[in-house]
Amino acid sequence: MKFFIDTANLDEITEANELGILDGVTTNPSLINKEGIKGEDNIMQRYVDICNIVDGDISAEVVATDFEGMVREGENLAALSPKIVVKIPMIKDGIKAIKYFSSKGIRTNCTLVFSAGQALLAAKAGATYLSPFIGRIDDISWDGIDLIDQIVAIYGNYGFTTEVLAASIRNPLHIVKCAEVGADVVTSPLKAFLALLNHPLTDKGLAKFLADAAKSRPA
Ligand code: E4P
Repeated sequence: MKFFIDTANLDEITEANELGILDGVTTNPSLINKEGIKGEDNIMQRYVDICNIVDGDISAEVVATDFEGMVREGENLAALSPKIVVKIPMIKDGIKAIKYFSSKGIRTNCTLVFSAGQALLAAKAGATYLSPFIGRIDDISWDGIDLIDQIVAIYGNYGFTTEVLAASIRNPLHIVKCAEVGADVVTSPLKAFLALLNHPLTDKGLAKFLADAAKSRPA
C-alpha cells in the first residue's frame, strides 16, 4: 500500500518525507489556496518545490473544465517533472482528457469520484489513479469504505490497472479500513498518518522499559 500526503504545505511534506515511508503527494486547488499561494507562476513553483522534496508521484490538478483547456494545463504541469501526475475532475471532458493523456504516456489521477460507475469510466479511459473521496461520503452518512471495497472488487474482476487512491481521509481508522479492503494508495493529512503511531500500551510499555533500564544502570 502506498502512502501519499494530502497537502501543499512544505513543512508537513518534509516532516512526512523524513519518516522514510512517503510515496507521494496529492494537492488540489483548495489545498494550494490554504497555503496562501497566489498567481500561476507561484503555484507552478510550489509543485516544483514539492517535487524537489519527495521522490514519488505528485498530483497537480487542472482547473480548466473543457477538454482543450485541461490538455493545455495538463501538458504544462507534466512538463514540470516526470513525477507530476495530472489530476483531472470526473466530468465528461475529464474522461476525454484522461484518455488523451493515457495515449500520450502522461499519468493521471481522476478526482472527485463518488460512485462505482464513475470508477468504471475512469479505468476504461486509462486513468493511472482514481481518487474516491471517502470522508466526504461519510460526511453525508453513506459509507466511503464500502465504495473503496466495491471499486477494488470491480477493478479486480477485469484486471484494470488503475490504482485505487483513497482520498478525503479524516482519521487513522480510515487508513486501516482502506488497507483491509485493498486500496492501492491512501492520501492523508499528516495528522492522520501520525495518529497511526499511537497506542496507550506502547506508551505505558516504553515508560516501564525506560524505568527498568535506568535501574540496571545506576548513576
Ligand atoms: C485528494 O486528492 C483530495 O483532493 C482530498 O483528499 C480531499 O479531501 P477533503 O475531503 O478533506 O477536502
